[in-house]
Amino acid sequence: MTTNTFPDVARIDAHDKVRGATRYASDDSRPGMLHATLACATIGRGSIQSIDTSAARALRGVRLVLTHAELSRLQPAGFLLAGGYGVQSLQPLTSPNIAYFGQPIALVVAETLEVALQAAALIRTAYAVEPHQMGLDAPEADIVAQQESPLPKPMFEDVHVGDADAVFAQAAVQIDATYASAVQHHNPMELLATVAEWSEGRLTIHEGTQNAEGVRHGVARQLGIPAEQVRVISPQVGGGFGQKNSLQGQTVLAAFAARALGHSVKLVVRRSQLFHASSFRAATRHRIRLGADHGGTMLAAIHETDAQTSRHDLFPSVNAEVSARLHGIANFGARERLVRTDTQTPGYMRAPFEHMACFAFESAVDELAQALGQDPVALRLANDTQRDPVTGKPLSSRHLAECLRRGAARFGWARRSMAPGSMQDAEGQLIGWGVAAGAYKAATAPAVARLRVYDDGTALASVGVHEMGQGIRTALAAALSRKLGIEPDQITLDIGDTNSTPQHITVGSWGTATAVPAAVEAADAMLSALAELLPGDAAGRSPAEILRAAGRRSLDVAIRRKAPGQPDAVFTRLATGLPAPLGPNYPDFVSFSYIAHFVEVRVEPTTRRIRVPRVVSVADCGRVISPRTAASQVRGGVVWGIGAALREASEVDPRYGGFLNADLADYVLPVNADIGDIEVEFIDRADPLVNAMGIKGLGEVAMVGVAAAIANAVHHATGIRLRDLPIRIEHLM
Ligand code: MOS
Repeated sequence: MTTNTFPDVARIDAHDKVRGATRYASDDSRPGMLHATLACATIGRGSIQSIDTSAARALRGVRLVLTHAELSRLQPAGFLLAGGYGVQSLQPLTSPNIAYFGQPIALVVAETLEVALQAAALIRTAYAVEPHQMGLDAPEADIVAQQESPLPKPMFEDVHVGDADAVFAQAAVQIDATYASAVQHHNPMELLATVAEWSEGRLTIHEGTQNAEGVRHGVARQLGIPAEQVRVISPQVGGGFGQKNSLQGQTVLAAFAARALGHSVKLVVRRSQLFHASSFRAATRHRIRLGADHGGTMLAAIHETDAQTSRHDLFPSVNAEVSARLHGIANFGARERLVRTDTQTPGYMRAPFEHMACFAFESAVDELAQALGQDPVALRLANDTQRDPVTGKPLSSRHLAECLRRGAARFGWARRSMAPGSMQDAEGQLIGWGVAAGAYKAATAPAVARLRVYDDGTALASVGVHEMGQGIRTALAAALSRKLGIEPDQITLDIGDTNSTPQHITVGSWGTATAVPAAVEAADAMLSALAELLPGDAAGRSPAEILRAAGRRSLDVAIRRKAPGQPDAVFTRLATGLPAPLGPNYPDFVSFSYIAHFVEVRVEPTTRRIRVPRVVSVADCGRVISPRTAASQVRGGVVWGIGAALREASEVDPRYGGFLNADLADYVLPVNADIGDIEVEFIDRADPLVNAMGIKGLGEVAMVGVAAAIANAVHHATGIRLRDLPIRIEHLM
């Protein structure tokens, strides 16, 4: 099959971003706006016995101080994964109970941010302290078998294919290893922030969110008002990747305060508070058993996971969905358990399960290659599959083998010597070359798209999708431009606004695969409608020429679109702000995106400092719609993978509750000096089944497998197998 590669289009927001003209929620300013800040609990668990806000209230410029005494009547919005709208079921400030360190206990609103901060520091609280538990080694009573939990089936059912236990027990070559990861926190530049504004009984929320419709319906439920009275506008998420996927705790507080004061209120969650105010990537532990014959055929695997959740919610763990699909393994068993800890509820963070599932599994595959004396690329190629091992359905498309072959060629893999510690550079640094594969589900969400063209040559498109920084506006404008013959800068994109079209949650790497085909379908409907305006005379004429010839100022069309095999009922969920995605398991096929990463590390022999000078990543994400933003996504994913492998950890001291990190000095991220060359290549072949444009999705698969490729490279450089993330200098001493 040949591919028509789409042209490289510059980001339509590039100049605004570089000039700082892009406005995020915390940049928002309204006349008379007041500033709010949170005061937070300093115990690991317990309850408030007394809270003295008198000094705070007495400070000049303070307009309002709210505690649980005033807010206990707020209604719960429910937890997103339990059918509700919220990042967790617990709404802070509605009771004196403290479930976790850093839980907000008071809201202060003042004329300036400085006064609000000073007042918050004057609040005095007495607590009754109860013991807390933060680790995965918890008492049995705190461990939940996910299979037995009330989480919706079949989404959170354990995977069982064939007879993994029996086949593994008989396998000639067995790997049995346990891998673990620290907690990670998203640290986007744009913090969680809300500006709430009331006008004639109607509430407008300006907030960077991936789920404007969910925030709208959730906040309406909390305040006990109809959703029709709430509008949520999220023109720029400012770094999403799961952190901003649902109703956050601060939103209703800003709305409540703004209503009480008759002024708009801005509430920014400070970075020092983010480690407890936002969701996070749970700590996990993965035991992988992988059995093969002497020839290197993988016969059976068992993937057991313990993942952290909060005491008040069950945040599901979905690791085997991807690990069971990476290779063609006929017998696969999985068991996922959730461990209750005294934290806020963990949540989604880029490739929320796939990153660690593939770190564990692809490390085990490398250990198997080592045990067999086989090349790790050849071992993976020999275990490729074109049929879904879990359901037996056809895969919509899978070009992982081609990713591995092209990546190996581009990287120069043939020059790798097999023995660990056998490659060095001229300065005596140890060189390690590692490979790993990744996969991520290709899901689709329902979407409504509206399109209007004007006789002056401009167009307005409204689509249900959020701009998370990935460049969705650029992808939409380019696709519409190609269809309509209107320049991208003449197309206004109205997205992330509940007043334009219903805004389904934008997560799970389904943004482009959902919104671009919807926009293109709207454009096709528009071309048909234009042709009907001027029967027999529309060909070769631009939309504006047709409108002028027909004496029309503008023309509107609207379409709605859902995943293959999805019932119409999903549009009801869409309209009420509830998630309704489908994938990877469609009625007639299973769909995943794939990637292969090739990584070079250099380890300084004395200090054991690890550098990553070179990465080659080859992705199969179906059709590449926007080459520039897609390559950018992959580079960002690789950087995130380097962070996950070598830097990021939210530190826990079991004596205290919560996380010790409080800023970007303590939460260590890779900086420019840590990043070398990242070469990105795409298979760029349309998927024939998942949607008319052949798009599978890219945002999350980009980082999947990076950490395993790094750990495998570290092993190749040093002979030391490291199974806990992050890997740091001291682990190589
Ligand atoms: Mo993503 S972790 O599905 O926003």
